[in-house]
Order: sequence, then C-alpha cells, then structure tokens
Amino acid sequence: MGNFAYLAGDAASGEAVVVDPGWDGEELIRRASQEELTIRAVLLTHGHYDHSGQARAMTDLLNVPAYVDPRDEALLPARPARLLWPADGLIPVIPQVSIKAIHTPGHTQGSNCFLINDKHLLTGDTLFVGACGRCDLETSDPEEMYRSLSERLGYLADDVKVYPGHDYGDTPASTMGNERRTNPYLMCTSLERFLRMRSG
Ligand SMILES: [Fe+2]
Repeated sequence: MGNFAYLAGDAASGEAVVVDPGWDGEELIRRASQEELTIRAVLLTHGHYDHSGQARAMTDLLNVPAYVDPRDEALLPARPARLLWPADGLIPVIPQVSIKAIHTPGHTQGSNCFLINDKHLLTGDTLFVGACGRCDLETSDPEEMYRSLSERLGYLADDVKVYPGHDYGDTPASTMGNERRTNPYLMCTSLERFLRMRSG
C-alpha cells in the first residue's frame, strides 16, 4: 500500500517518536536503535489499520504510550494499553522538540497532522504529494476535508515540509508551497468545485 512510517526526534538527546507504524514494527525498532534513538511514544495520524497496525505491539514491547485522537479510537485494529490525547494539541514527549497536532478531519473524523518544530508536517491520509485522502470511507466528510486543506492547514508557511502517509506522488515528500502551486485539491478555490473533483 506504499505506507510511510516516520521516526522523528532530537539527534542530540537521542529521543524520538514513531509516527504511523502500520506494518513492520520490528524494523522500525531496529532502525531506531541503529540511529541510537530511544522511542518515547507512538503517534497515529488516524486510526486506519495501515497506519496503526503495529501500535499495540510496539507500545507493549517498548512500554510507551500511544497518541491518537479519541474520535478515531474505534477504528484501531487493537487498542494500545495507554492511549493519550492532549486537549491543547501539544504532545509533550520530547522536551527539545515541539510536536503539535492539527485536527484535520475529512478522511476520518479524528485525522490529525503533526507539525514538528513548526517546520515539518506529517500529514497522514489528509494531504498527499499531488492529491488528498479519500473522503468516501466510514467517518469521512468531504466538506471537512476541504476546510482542513484550505483553512486548518492554511496558516502554514510555504517552506513547511510535507511528509505524507503514502508514497502516492512524484516525490516522497514536498513543501506546502509546492503543494499550493501544483496540487489540484489545494488549488481548488471553492467548496463546490472541490466536492465535484473529490467525487468525480
Ligand atoms: Fe487512512
């Protein structure tokens, strides 16, 4: 399915989080130890199994919490023992790293993008390189997707890097500026046009 999972953290302190471990948790743990990183938490952009399939096993093995928006808990294939979600969207697991959840419903009700140090945006199935996530699934809402893309991510600067949840584009990653210039779903200027595109 071309899923991306991410390790994000602070090289100096060696603390990291895993984002969207859908498939190969052992490989992610191996990679973290190669990079001399200690995994402090598992973060999920949303509840779908191809992003969360390894969350239970990894959090059990590492004895760390998982963060998922409560609106997506029911979608998880297996519930991690410690599920957390901050009311203010700030995920305080690594002291030197700011991790902010931006609620971006549309693909699912509890979809979130994670903004790391105000510069790197992990977008899950909300925004892909050149496209956006499906809006025809259980708890999807295409109108909310339009608002997420145009308003909730609208304040981010052009140089914010975009790291999607699937390898669906011409490049694995992009920037908000690039997507605003080339992604037809971000270039859409009206809800009506967006809904026509997304359903067509
Ligand atoms: Fe998904």
